[in-house]
Amino acid sequence: MPASAARPRPGPGPPPGAHFPLMLLAVLSGPVSGRVPRSVPRTSLPISEADTYLTRFTVPQTYNYSVLLVDPAAHTLYVGARDTIFALSLPFSGERPRRIDWMVPEAHRQNCRKKGKKEDECHNFVQILAIANASHLLTCGTFAFDPKCGVIGEFSMLPL
Ligand SMILES: *[C@@H]1O[C@H](CO)[C@@H](O)[C@H](O)[C@H]1NC(C)=O
Ligand SMILES: *[C@@H]1O[C@H](CO)[C@@H](O)[C@H](O)[C@H]1NC(C)=O
Repeated sequence: MPASAARPRPGPGPPPGAHFPLMLLAVLSGPVSGRVPRSVPRTSLPISEADTYLTRFTVPQTYNYSVLLVDPAAHTLYVGARDTIFALSLPFSGERPRRIDWMVPEAHRQNCRKKGKKEDECHNFVQILAIANASHLLTCGTFAFDPKCGVIGEFSMLPL
């Protein structure tokens, strides 16, 4: 028998990772494991039911939540969004998140628009968050089509 015939094929169903965002949020919200019966493993949840299990996080006038990072040692969830990085304490307690704004200066934004980009695109979309060491985070953003990275320590941004 040719070797290719013996190769396992991917099974039916959604590709691996398709349910990842919802599962990640479920894990982060803590009480889930206590409320979902253990004998019924579930990989998905109707959205109508999700609010019972999940903690929602949005801040008015802040858009494009794009990247998440958990720092287990600091019991903190970092959320990268447009022009901003949030730090939420884990487990969620309703405490106000800390934030650091990382905006594109107006002159740089004007340049971006002059190059024909849309107003809405001339922002800093935070794309990368990583733990640099025990006291600092590494982050990178699009910075109005001029990507930049920096390190954040004790909520001040330093250039890399
Ligand atoms: C950012 O969010 C706005 C509002 O939801 C949306 O219209 C826009 O396409 C998003 N931009 C990116 C780059 O994701
Ligand atoms: C962590 O990284 C920052 C930025 O590179 C550096 O300034 C700081 O000294 C480092 N701290 C430790 C404990 O290594």
